Amino acid sequence: MVQFTRTQVAVIGSGPSGLLLSELLRKAGVDSVVIDRQSRSHIEARIRAGVLEWGTVEALREVGAGDRMDREGMPHSGFEMYFNGFRHRIDLVGLVNRQVMVYGQTELTKDLISGRLASGAPLTFCAEDVRIENVTSGNPKVCFVHGGETQIIACDYIAGCDGYHGMARQTIPSDILQVYERIYPFGWLGVLVDQPPISEELIYANGSHGFALCSMRSSSRSRYYLQCQINENLEDWSDERFFDELERRLGPETGRHLQRGASIEKSIAPLRSFVAEPMRYGRLFLVGDAAHIVPPTGAKGLNLAAADAQVLARALIEFYHSGRVDLLDRYSDTCLRRVWKVERFSWYLSQLLHMFPDATPFERKMQQAEFDYIAQSENASRSIAENYVGLPLSL
Ligand code: APR
Ligand code: PHB
Repeated sequence: MVQFTRTQVAVIGSGPSGLLLSELLRKAGVDSVVIDRQSRSHIEARIRAGVLEWGTVEALREVGAGDRMDREGMPHSGFEMYFNGFRHRIDLVGLVNRQVMVYGQTELTKDLISGRLASGAPLTFCAEDVRIENVTSGNPKVCFVHGGETQIIACDYIAGCDGYHGMARQTIPSDILQVYERIYPFGWLGVLVDQPPISEELIYANGSHGFALCSMRSSSRSRYYLQCQINENLEDWSDERFFDELERRLGPETGRHLQRGASIEKSIAPLRSFVAEPMRYGRLFLVGDAAHIVPPTGAKGLNLAAADAQVLARALIEFYHSGRVDLLDRYSDTCLRRVWKVERFSWYLSQLLHMFPDATPFERKMQQAEFDYIAQSENASRSIAENYVGLPLSL
């Protein structure tokens, strides 16, 4: 049995970018079908970053997915940077008059999924063998198998929101797709623990033994990261070893405030900068991680995905409401101009805050000088603040 359906926009992937895009479209009366190869429980269990730019906060409110975020999320007015024992606060509100919202991507994804399901709009999990056809013709299709049955969705446009490991990007011919990449020579070891955070604000620390980040999910749940080797073995990192090392990297003055506890999640993530150009091929648009990856320093991955989703939603809505295709035609260029600036900021913060295994004494001095400059120059701090709270969508 083959089941045929028709929609305006077929969305592949129900991560933050696919869900936000489809909900923005639904609010404007544009039909979409969302499919994901994973189960709902798998998607809702993925632990990811947790800092939202205000533009992302507003987009979530716009689609009606902001209620729990507004109740449980924590608006932050600044964050701390440590460099070899010296501390400097980036006062986001004082410098650029904007805040960020600390709210886990896991929670945000749950909110978007439950909102979509409650609306009755189509969202299919556990889709197998997802394939894209005819993207360079006028009648593209998405085909997949669900519960043993083949399904074919005919549509006007396809949004490839299927993340870095997805298939949408792979369907673009290699002589058209240009890829830019940088792989960092270390990873992040993350631990989630049910203990109050060490401080009210996030701390990004470049200690003499490497980078550490103190973040949080709530007033009673903390998220900590340590720079580690890429081939590190998780089993070698007991909770005790993790907290000993975190304390060492934060220095005695801050480290002694650490409230240790049993980890409820522990994982290692590689650090990568990656951009694929163009973000459009025929009637296929790449959105979010499918087109670009940033290292997590600065928490830009989710926000960048949300920005793409907003740009594409606006272009599609314009097309369906007035027949204009110019915004769709400019989608890739519009997104990429901003993507590269966010790539720059994530790369810059990563360069500044990590201990590079092959760094020469000169390069270490450059890091030190950069930090001193930021700590002494309001302009330098303001530049960091401007990027951290999120560049305007048109930049
Ligand atoms: N078919 C259908 N769905 C797929 C396929 C496929 N072949 N491949 C992947 N997917 C799904 C994944 O199961 C996942 O749910 O696409 C979704 C992609 O979601 P994300 O990886 O979360 O990507 P995105 O929505 O762009 O969100 C970006 O999430 O990955 C983090 O750091 C990233 O914070 C950033 C944000
Ligand atoms: C997180 O809370 O997981 C987090 C916060 C800030 C970052 C990265 C990750 O820069």
